[in-house]
Amino acid sequence: MSYVDLSSPEVVSDPYPIYAELRREGPAVRVDPEGMWAVTRFSDVVQVLRRVDAFSSAPGEGDREQLFEKAFGGPNIIGADNPTHDRLRYIMQGRFTPKHLARLQGRVETLSRDLLAQTAGSREFDLVSSYTVPLPVIVIAELLGVEADRVDDFKRWSNALVKIVNAARGEERAGAIAEVGELATYLAGMAERRRREPADDLIGALVAAENQPGRISPGEVLSYCILLLAAGNETTTNLIGGMVNALIQNPDQLALLRRDPGLIKNAVEEGLRYCSPVQGLFRRVHEHTELSGVTIPAGSRVWVCYASANRDPDRFENPDDFDITRDCRGHVAFGWGLHFCLGANLARREARVAIEHLLPILDEVGLRDRVEWLPSWVIRGPQALPFERAA
Ligand code: HEM
Repeated sequence: MSYVDLSSPEVVSDPYPIYAELRREGPAVRVDPEGMWAVTRFSDVVQVLRRVDAFSSAPGEGDREQLFEKAFGGPNIIGADNPTHDRLRYIMQGRFTPKHLARLQGRVETLSRDLLAQTAGSREFDLVSSYTVPLPVIVIAELLGVEADRVDDFKRWSNALVKIVNAARGEERAGAIAEVGELATYLAGMAERRRREPADDLIGALVAAENQPGRISPGEVLSYCILLLAAGNETTTNLIGGMVNALIQNPDQLALLRRDPGLIKNAVEEGLRYCSPVQGLFRRVHEHTELSGVTIPAGSRVWVCYASANRDPDRFENPDDFDITRDCRGHVAFGWGLHFCLGANLARREARVAIEHLLPILDEVGLRDRVEWLPSWVIRGPQALPFERAA
């Protein structure tokens, strides 16, 4: 196969045929002239995620993720190898357990109902801007302890982060960097406030950990906050939006879910497998590294494609079918191993509430237009879900 432009509009609108070709081609395929390799088969994706010593998460010199480290003054957990990774993970671990998050259930339900109530009188509304965006943004903002009424700013800032990860160039990149700078200034101010006025929120927990020797630096606090804010909303928004679209495109599955809402938990897992809101992320090899018989040269960047692994027919039967009754345990939509998503329990909780609340509404509405996908090859979700109520 010749080089593939994963960011081209054709691939972004439907990347799955290209993933299938890449899986057929080999365990690791060089996809661009700058030396990026794609790993797309389930077994190889898991192998890369397992071999953390060979496949490093820390950004190399010149990588766009390194920009964040430099700008914020410290690495973040997702882009750190050990021992830094475990030190950072330990601080937040207890905050994202199912038990700890159970206390959020009522709040998520109220918020979801309130947002949906605001659309109730409208004949036409966009579910993305009115619901799937604000729900996770408000939840993570409240958890962090920042001003949840600045939803629009958080969304704008996290869009800028995604643009940088997507390798935006020129003016777009300069604009995104400026926006991220604004976010950093805002969060630095919030952290400063927490140092003066301690509180039991996530920023409070992070700054409290600064006082224990060798635990976390102010730069790392800032990087952590930014990651939680971005990872905590963009992804969940796209999971809920992607699932709504999948249910609409598969009316038999929607009808099944209506008949048996007990399937919601499994439907969300299937939504994660089928939609993979994070399509893939990066690793770096510092030495020549062998993967299932292919040698990846030292210094290469590796694109680890969770979305393709989740559609690998060697792992999931009829992988392109959206089937809410299938056994989809073992999907890698949240990654695997050391860097397994810290917010998985939170995302699952929000998505289950959202799907439960949306089920009756999906009965009354129809999509006005074909779904356009976000212009990103890293993050996948509908840009808008323009609904119209039956007259
Ligand atoms: C549907 C929603 C979500 C998806 C699909 C998702 C996906 C992922 C994936 C694939 C990784 C692994 C990264 C790697 O292998 O390098 C990851 C890590 C992470 N996620 Fe999520 N995520 C979601 C929601 C959230 C939420 C709600 C939060 C926070 C509140 C969050 C915070 C994190 C953090 C902090 C990490 C880094 C963990 C580590 O490096 O140890 N994510 N996520």
